Formats: sequence, C-alpha cells, structure tokens
Amino acid sequence: MLQDKVIIVFGGCGLIGKEIVKDIQKKHGIAINVDINSEEYKLDITDNNAIKELFKTVYEKYGKIDGVVNCAYPRTKDWGNKLEDVPFESWQKNVDMQLNPVITITQEGLKYMKEGSSFVNFGSIYGVCGNDFTIYEGTGGTSPAAYPAIKGGIINFTRYLASYVGHKGIRANCVSPGGVFDNQNPIFVKNYSHRSPLKRLAKAEEMAPAVSFLLSDEASYITGHNLMVDGGWSAI
Ligand SMILES: NC(=O)c1ccc[n+]([C@@H]2O[C@H](COP(=O)([O-])OP(=O)(O)OC[C@H]3O[C@@H](n4cnc5c(N)ncnc54)[C@H](O)[C@@H]3O)[C@@H](O)[C@H]2O)c1
Repeated sequence: MLQDKVIIVFGGCGLIGKEIVKDIQKKHGIAINVDINSEEYKLDITDNNAIKELFKTVYEKYGKIDGVVNCAYPRTKDWGNKLEDVPFESWQKNVDMQLNPVITITQEGLKYMKEGSSFVNFGSIYGVCGNDFTIYEGTGGTSPAAYPAIKGGIINFTRYLASYVGHKGIRANCVSPGGVFDNQNPIFVKNYSHRSPLKRLAKAEEMAPAVSFLLSDEASYITGHNLMVDGGWSAI
C-alpha cells in the first residue's frame, strides 16, 4: 500500500515509468509524472534549475515528498554504437545526461524528504554483470559501452546514499531490470530468452511492483539494496 504517499517519478512516460505511475496510483499513492514528454510536469532532468523548481513546487502543493523514483533514460542518437565507434563527446554526454542528474535530484529531494521517505534509482543487469555479447549475434546491434559505467555508478552511489541518510530514517534502493520486451529484433529476443533462466524477456509491468514495494512502509528495513528484477539473469 502507498496510501497518500506523494511520489515523484522521473521518466514517468517511459516504457517502465508509465507502469510505475499506474502501479503507484493502483496502490492509492499520488504519482507525480515528471518527464520531458509529460503533460503533467514537463522537465528535462539535465536542467538543474528546473529540478530545484520542481521539488519546491511539489512540496508547496502537497506539503511532503515521500518518494523519488529515478527512471528517466535520456541518451544520444548514437547510443548503441560499438566501442571503437563511440566518440569521446558521446560517452561524455551520456554520462552527463544519465548519471549526473542523480546528484541534483538527490540534493533537492533531501531538502524536503523526512523519516519514512525513500529513493528508488534504476540500475540494470549491466550495472552488476558483464555483458554476454553472444545475444547480439545476427542482430547488427550491441550494448553501449557507457551503460555499465553509468549503471554501476548509480548502484554504488545508491549504497553511499543509503549509508549517508540512514540515520534520518530515509532509505535508498535500486531496482535493476533485465531486458524488457519492446518489440526488439526477433533474433535478439530469441537469443536473450535462450540465455535467461525464465526463457523470456521481462514485461514492463513486472518492474513496477518491485518499485512500489521498496517505496512502501513494508520495506521499512530495506536500504542500500539493489533488487534484481531480471528473470534470474544475474543468478547464472
Ligand atoms: N528497457 C529495458 O530493457 C531496461 C533494462 C534495464 C534497465 N532499464 C532502465 O530502466 C530505466 C527506464 O528505461 P525505459 O526502458 O523505461 O526507457 P524509456 O526510453 O522507455 O523511457 C525513458 C523516459 O525518460 C524520458 N526522458 C528522456 N530524456 C529525458 C530528459 N532529458 N528529461 C526527462 N525525461 C527524459 C523519456 O521521455 C521517456 O519517457 C532506465 O534507467 C533504463 O536504463 C531498462
């Protein structure tokens, strides 16, 4: 249950984010959808001033902030180029867009968040495991080099944050999805499914309950955790 909890969801229009918004609402929470494409709160997470303004606005409107979910996923057009073909500026820009907003979101959130509130950041299997490049064979694609650097950074920053704010009763956790089905190349889907213990990709809606649980009071003694929602990918 997330009864009356005010939860800001960055990236709430995305494949996973929109399921998170729905699940929070289903569990009687108040989901604030913040996204570059949101009709509710349109914001670019690389804009520090906009983030500051957003937290202030939400706090003034609701009088509290119980949760923050970091699920936006900006990336450059050449995201997915193979390692040899990644211009330095592209690496830098992706780190800047995907990793760096976390500090401002955290700092601004902490100005308003109190005991019992929590952060849920998004990692990935690739923030934890090395890549199995055989799943891309025959697809013409690959997995971006900056991704494990960014996701590993987010996961371990979340542990830092959990430790830093634990004495205030504020929690910080990660959810790390495995591959989510989104009409990818059928060869990739076949290769990925074959390698995965559950023999399929995830459905986007399978991520949301994990997020809601970590935001809820039922997870009151869980912090610094990285919850793998990966169909067992990281178990083998
Ligand atoms: N989809 C997967 O297979 C998968 C697997 C592992 C981890 N993840 C992680 O899950 C998270 C969500 O991924 P997704 O698949 O839902 O991505 P998505 O691309 O479907 O959604 C991302 C959302 O972020 C928004 N966005 C992009 N740039 C923005 C910006 N500058 N400011 C504000 N909003 C912006 C987009 O409008 C979109 O609504 C990401 O952290 C991703 O790394 C996804």
